[in-house]
Amino acid sequence: MAEIAVEATEIPAQLPDVRVAVLGAGKMGGILLQAFLKQNLFAPEQIHATVGHAARAVALSTQWGVDVSTNNLEAVRQADLILLGVKPFQVADILAEIKPALRADQTLVSFAAAVTTRAIEEASGLELAVVRAMPNTPSALGAGATALCRGRFVKDDQMELAQRLFETVGRAVVVHEKHMNAVTGLSGSGPAYVYIIIEALAEAGVKVGLPRDTATELAAQTVFGSAKMVLETGYHPALLKDAVTTPAGCTIDGILELEEGGLRVTLIKAVMRATERAKQLAAG
Ligand SMILES: NC(=O)c1ccc[n+]([C@@H]2O[C@H](COP(=O)([O-])OP(=O)(O)OC[C@H]3O[C@@H](n4cnc5c(N)ncnc54)[C@H](OP(=O)(O)O)[C@@H]3O)[C@@H](O)[C@H]2O)c1
Repeated sequence: MAEIAVEATEIPAQLPDVRVAVLGAGKMGGILLQAFLKQNLFAPEQIHATVGHAARAVALSTQWGVDVSTNNLEAVRQADLILLGVKPFQVADILAEIKPALRADQTLVSFAAAVTTRAIEEASGLELAVVRAMPNTPSALGAGATALCRGRFVKDDQMELAQRLFETVGRAVVVHEKHMNAVTGLSGSGPAYVYIIIEALAEAGVKVGLPRDTATELAAQTVFGSAKMVLETGYHPALLKDAVTTPAGCTIDGILELEEGGLRVTLIKAVMRATERAKQLAAG
């Protein structure tokens, strides 16, 4: 049988006209950058990433096949879209460094915790479009929850672009900036709360006789499946809970214990405390 010659075809990037600078391609910046490439949002040659250490730049450039350097100014000069992913305490220095290359037609998306859009706008000295984002750690597996808010000079298409960036690593919602501390307390810290819940459920499984591995797998999948039910059916969680709870059955006995133990109030208080702490940290 004759062989069919298959021509190698390059699939064009979804956003081929946007040149991107990722300043601070660390854990979160690296997660985003790799998701952009994997989902073909941008082609490798559209991206210039930066890190603090030259040796790391060389290693990452080889690993990702994109331009990685320590030259923030150069990266920004060529960019339409700038992602700012350094640690919050480094933001002021980086902004001072890149100021000469910033232009009012660029979009800057910062995911540095606690740094406000106004602080970035003011440091830029321009009417710069600044979007602030708060992603969380499950972004590493494409199951992140990100909230975004817009600065004063962001146009709708720029906001849509920013949202699209974070949809490569999970779900992305838009909130008002006054809610960013609440987002930190809920979805930012939330994975830690849920890990404790999974750990406790697994421990319970062991208590009632299940092997630990089995108990952990069942507990984690139960949390995953329940979350999927809430997200994909759109039903109120109370309705879904009621559907599991047979009159005089087992679940209602379990729920009674949860209510007596104050799980509901404890979780509410945990989010309130973390939100308060985020507020304190943001105030410096
Ligand atoms: N990790 C998360 O789950 C998460 C969630 C929400 C928000 N955030 C926010 O994301 C930001 C980064 O956090 P991360 O966990 O990704 O930290 P990280 O891994 O330490 O990343 C920071 C990156 O910044 C680079 N850097 C340092 N100085 C620089 C400079 N002068 N120019 C360019 N790059 C420089 C570092 O380079 P070297 O590696 O060479 O030192 C590193 O790659 C923080 O502001 C944090 O608040 C993170």
